[in-house]
Amino acid sequence: MEHWLADIEFERQSRLRKIFKAALINPLANYLPPGLLKAVLRLAKSELAAANWADPGGWQTMVINYDGRPKQIADKLLVSAGTMSMALRNRKRLASHVLARLIDSANSEPTHVLCLGAGPGHIIIDAMSQANRKALATLVDLNTDAFEHGRRLAARAGLSECVRFVQSDVRHIKQLLDHPPDLVKMLGICEYLTNEQIVEVAGAAAEVMPTGAGIVFNSLSKAHGNDRFFRRVFGLHMTHRSPHRLQALMQQAGFSDFNSIPEPLGVYHVIVGRRKAKGPRSSAKGS
Ligand SMILES: C[S@@+](CC[C@H](N)C(=O)[O-])C[C@H]1O[C@@H](n2cnc3c(N)ncnc32)[C@H](O)[C@@H]1O
Repeated sequence: MEHWLADIEFERQSRLRKIFKAALINPLANYLPPGLLKAVLRLAKSELAAANWADPGGWQTMVINYDGRPKQIADKLLVSAGTMSMALRNRKRLASHVLARLIDSANSEPTHVLCLGAGPGHIIIDAMSQANRKALATLVDLNTDAFEHGRRLAARAGLSECVRFVQSDVRHIKQLLDHPPDLVKMLGICEYLTNEQIVEVAGAAAEVMPTGAGIVFNSLSKAHGNDRFFRRVFGLHMTHRSPHRLQALMQQAGFSDFNSIPEPLGVYHVIVGRRKAKGPRSSAKGS
């Protein structure tokens, strides 16, 4: 699978920039009083901070990070040079390539892709634009605000007829499986779910998926160096799990044959699993 990775334009950091962040920027961001940092961000009219305060880790924060060209100086630092923002853009590029390849190699056309916690659908719309074969996507999110933005993205890509938006909690996934998916996408969502919820959600999808069908999800490591800052200043509480840990949960849900691909900053791995031949599932424990 790896030769095509060379075509992806990833964002990288020089060794010097990494040292500078680790020695100075991250300790300041993580250990200065959060009230002071919030006041500075408010004064600097940071759109990224405001979006996180309104909905920590919500779809609008993703749009600001993906766009990568903010207007305010504070956001230029956070979004253009922040390790997490760069890693998010890397994950988007990597995952859309992976999904396009899975659509092109799926057993059925059109491929039905179920996107859980999809936001407006940047990643799947990019993937469907890159794929040579047709896909139909169901995009599920709690937040309907994301859908208007998503409809504009789909229209711009000429894919309006290929996407449908459904407001739902992914934890109620059983209501969403009237049309069994050929491919499930769980990107940017597992970090907001407990182990039990991941197994429950992925397991419910697995029950209706054919053997060999794909699931795409991501791990999250603390290599971004700013977890304390995100928690105290943005109110963003993410669960960090290694690829190994997530694969174990997905295995309990009914998937196997994992292929785990890191983006170059080491923050995210994009992981593909395959529906195992049907058998009983075991239960999740711990965090
Ligand atoms: C970090 S964003 C990721 C968006 C998109 N998957 C991406 O990677 O660009 C997380 C999204 O998951 C949604 N979300 C969080 N918990 C959810 C739940 N329990 N059910 C449905 N959507 C959820 C949020 O509203 C948000 O749009």
